[in-house]
Parts: sequence; C-alpha cells; structure tokens
Amino acid sequence: MCGIVGIIGGSDVAPRLIEGLKRLEYRGYDSGGIAALANGGIERRRAKGKIIELETRVREDPVRGAIGIGHTRWATHGVPNEANAHPHANDRVAVVHNGIIENFQVLRRDLLDDGHVFASDTDTEVVVHLISQEIAEGVEPIEATRRALTRLEGAFALGILLRDREDVLIAARQGSPLAIGHGDGEMYLGSDALALAPMTRRITYLEDGDWALLTRDGATIRDLDGRDVERPEHLTGLSGAMIGKGGHRHFMAKEIFEQPQVIGDTLNAMFNPANRTITLPDLPFDLATVPRIVMVACGTASLAGMVGKYWMERLAGVPVEWDVASEFRYRAPMMADGGLAVFISQSGETADTLAALRYCKEHGQHCLAVVNAPESTIAREAHSVLPTLAGPEIGVASTKAFTTQLVVLACLTIALGRARGTLGRAEEARLCTALSEVPSRAAEVLHHAERIRAIAQETVAPARDVLFLGRGTSYPLALEGALKLKEISYIHAEGYAAGEMKHGPIALIDENFPVVVIAPSDGAFDKTASNLQEVVARGGRGIVLTDPEGVARLGALTPDVIALPAVDPFVAPILHAIPLQLLAYHTAVEKGTDVDQPRNLAKAVTVE
Ligand code: AGP
Repeated sequence: MCGIVGIIGGSDVAPRLIEGLKRLEYRGYDSGGIAALANGGIERRRAKGKIIELETRVREDPVRGAIGIGHTRWATHGVPNEANAHPHANDRVAVVHNGIIENFQVLRRDLLDDGHVFASDTDTEVVVHLISQEIAEGVEPIEATRRALTRLEGAFALGILLRDREDVLIAARQGSPLAIGHGDGEMYLGSDALALAPMTRRITYLEDGDWALLTRDGATIRDLDGRDVERPEHLTGLSGAMIGKGGHRHFMAKEIFEQPQVIGDTLNAMFNPANRTITLPDLPFDLATVPRIVMVACGTASLAGMVGKYWMERLAGVPVEWDVASEFRYRAPMMADGGLAVFISQSGETADTLAALRYCKEHGQHCLAVVNAPESTIAREAHSVLPTLAGPEIGVASTKAFTTQLVVLACLTIALGRARGTLGRAEEARLCTALSEVPSRAAEVLHHAERIRAIAQETVAPARDVLFLGRGTSYPLALEGALKLKEISYIHAEGYAAGEMKHGPIALIDENFPVVVIAPSDGAFDKTASNLQEVVARGGRGIVLTDPEGVARLGALTPDVIALPAVDPFVAPILHAIPLQLLAYHTAVEKGTDVDQPRNLAKAVTVE
C-alpha cells in the first residue's frame, strides 16, 4: 500500500515524479503529493483523490527543483484528505512513507510535549519532527536522520528530503519494499522497479534495516549502525512502456480476456506435449519425501491455495494444511521437519504472506513461492520459485493471476503425485491432457460473456446480498466468486460450502436473494443439485455454472444456467473461475463503481 518515488537528477523532476506515481497508483489512490527542493526551500503540492488530481494541481502551480519525492496513498492513519496526503513536511524536512510506524503514538506524545505542532493525523509525520528536532539541537542533517530512524518501530519504506542537503536523497527500508534505480548522473527511488522502468533498468533492492544516501553519482547503503553494506545491482526485465487496456474499457476486462493466452504461457513452461508430462524446475528438496505441506497466502491467492490443497490431498496423498497468512503466523502452527511451505502471491509483496514465509524459514521449512512478480521480495526470499506468467495485473481484482496460480498448483500436484507414486503414467498423461485443453476451453468460456452480462444486470446488480455455493474444489471457487463480487461491486456476498447452507444461510433465502451455484458434473453434482432444489423451493433465484451434462441433469430447475465446456473435473476450477470474474465485472459496471480501483482497496497490501 502506498507508492513512493524519488529522483535526484539534473533537471526539474516534477513531471517524472508524477509519471512514476501513475505507475504506482495500483498501490493506493486516495491522495497523492510531491515535494522538491527549489530556491533553498521545500516546495510541495498535494491533492485528494487520484494522481490525475495531483497532476492538475501541479500544472496550475508548477514545482521546480532537481531533487524530489512523490507519494500515492492508501490511508492507514487519518482520513484520505489533503492534510493527510504525503509528503509530510516542515521548512526543513519532507518525508514520504509506505508502512505503519507502530510506536508513533508514544513518539508523537513526546514530540507534542516538546512543543511540536502536528498538521496531520498520520503516523508518518512523527518522522519529520524527529529529524527536525535533532537538527534543531545542532546535529548534522544526515546524522539527524539516522538517529530518527533508529527510534522507529514497525514497517516502513521512507524517502526523505533535507532542505540543507540538495546533494542527497535519503531512503530507508524496514519491512516495506523499496528499490534504488541507477541512472546516468541521476539516481532514483521507487516502491518497485515498475515505477522506475521508464528511467532505468538498473535496480538495487534495499533489504530490511538498510538506509541509503543517494547522490547524483551513486548510492551508499548502510545499516543503522552506520556500517556500509553491499547490495547487488540487477537488470530488471520490466518494460518502461505504460501498460494499456488493449481496447477494453477496464484493465479487469482486458485481464479476464487475456486468460487463454497467459494460462497457456504458464502451462507451457512446465508441460511437455510430446510425452504429456510435467517437468518442474530443479527444486532443492525431494517431492517424494515431503512429509507435509503448508499452503499460505492472502485473499484470492489463498483461495487458489485452497484448491491446491484439495488437489494435492486427493491426487498426491500428501497432507496439506491451508491457512490465510494473517492467521497462520500468529497461531503457532505445527510444522513437520523438512516440510514444504508454499506461498502464493501475485504481487510478491503482501506483508502477511512475506512474514509467514520468514516464519516458515525460521522453522526449517522448504519455502516455495508461486509468484507473478519475479523480482518481488517474496520471490527473492523464497528458496525456490514457480512463476505464474500472467504478466502485469493492474486491476485490483485478481483474475488472470488466480487462474495461472491454479495452473502452477495443478502442475505441482501432478509432479507430487508422480514422485510419490500415487499417479501412474497413464493417469499423469490424462491429467496433463486435461490441462493442455484449458487455454482453448477458457476461450470458449469467454463466449458466455454476453449471457453473464444479462444475468449480472437483471439478477445480481439489483440484489443487496448474494450467496455463492460449491462443494469440493468448487467451494474455494464459491469463496472467490463472493470475494470478487464484493470487492468491485460493493454488494455483500458470502461464499459457503454447499452442504453447510442448511446450517444457517438458508434462513436468508427469499425471492430477492440470488444464489450462485458452482456445479460441474463431478462426483458431488447430485448433492449440490439438491442444495439448489432447496434454494428454489424457498423462492430463491439460482444462477448455476455447470456443463452440458449438468444442464441435462438439472432440467428446468432454474432459467439462469450457464453451460460451460465439458472438461475433466480436475481442471474445472480453472474454467469456472472465469464466469465468476465476468459476473462480478458486469455487476460492477452496471452499478457504476470504479472497477479497476475500487474504494478502500490496493493492489499490493504491504501493511499487516
Ligand atoms: C483479489 O481480488 C484481491 N484484491 C486480494 O484478495 C489479493 O488477492 C490479496 O491481497 C493477495 O495479494 P497478492 O496475490 O499480491 O499476495
């Protein structure tokens, strides 16, 4: 959450700061701001709302200066308004921050006692006052900054401008990601390499506890005791081109429609069509002897992991413990010696998932990351990586990242089953064939977009609440369908195991309550169909995702039935995810919400 950009260069930096912020807007978009050093002082512009509002403000009232910092905010402390927008500054110091300073209340109280006056409700502002206080006491500004940093607890990535040091831009990292970019006579700072890609591909990632002094000629990185530390320079593979919507109205629509392609790309990295086998990259542990797997992630990524749990237990006979990262790391989970821990993340920066990974490393687990951002912190810190090749996902709602995560987990399941002897050669070939058909079947699913739009407009958009039901691997999909709908349409939705409906939610059903039932014609079909009968008997409106056989078996039970292509039940969750995404998308469009940047959300959740 929150995006940071900084430049120390040879010409006015404001236009490039704003470009960088646009590329970081996926991290938060409730307000933005920039500050630069000019004419011996700090010039600052801030605006509530998206970066376009800040851009307008800066166009009306330009900012000069060849060293500056910028920020796009996802509010943690203080409402989203201009006063709480970053940079926070006084006449000596300006600061941008991503993270949460957990001891800010104690620091703020002390600073208030010392006569400091605060202009915002943020935790960040204490950093400005701590540095200024040291400077006022006669400490040289860079040493003043180091001393202030040692007093902070919590998670932070910081960019700091000092009025009296036009030759230095300061960066600090503890918990939240931060990258340094190397230019020619210029240096850059960014929350990720994507923000810096138009300016440079030469990137150094800061590690926790690092702080860095950027001059126009390079960077010195130190620990908080002031000792120099070495961090390697990487060449990022990220493109500097701005990512477009490819003719679609929203990024989310583009990303839904890209799925046949990216599912194929992800699968092709592991699937050998000649002998219909899966080959994973070399892994530093033996799949045959892994005693137990823990599967940890957040949000949609965690639901991909839940599907993976069902697959791995059934097909590879390995016990899998599944949890959301924010619970897992605080409940003293039992882990087997030499166990495998799988972390799933689109961004590779999710704070809870990263913390769970570090916890598992400390507890002797092999840590395997399934990530879409190959240069992310989770990718760098895991022992091994299985990449999803979804390409950049810009819409806050995860779509193509989810289905490509499923593809990777399906391949891992097959490799586990082969290694452990639960899948024979013929069975592996059958599952591989089913997987290889998914890209073309996904393209067929997209042909239902118009029908789904009609259901979204007529049945879902007018509803106040929606229930999603499924059994087996369709249960995590029910959870995902509900998550997708609520995050972008703001309609309350719940996902439930279909068999649990009569233990509570059935009380809610009436004629205004749509119930989306995910029912591929697998071994659980008849039981799920009975649950649908129970919905219809109480006047509820069933919307059913099934296949031609399911349509035949349901008869005329409900008019809203989508017949998806007939596929092996193993791959059904990958395909059934797509109509759920379309249903949420068209409902949100009908309701006129901000589909790609829904309220209160951010694409990368880098705070706990
Ligand atoms: C999905 O639509 C969400 N916006 C969210 O649940 C997301 O999946 C979650 O925050 C995890 O993010 P990650 O994959 O980047 O770790």
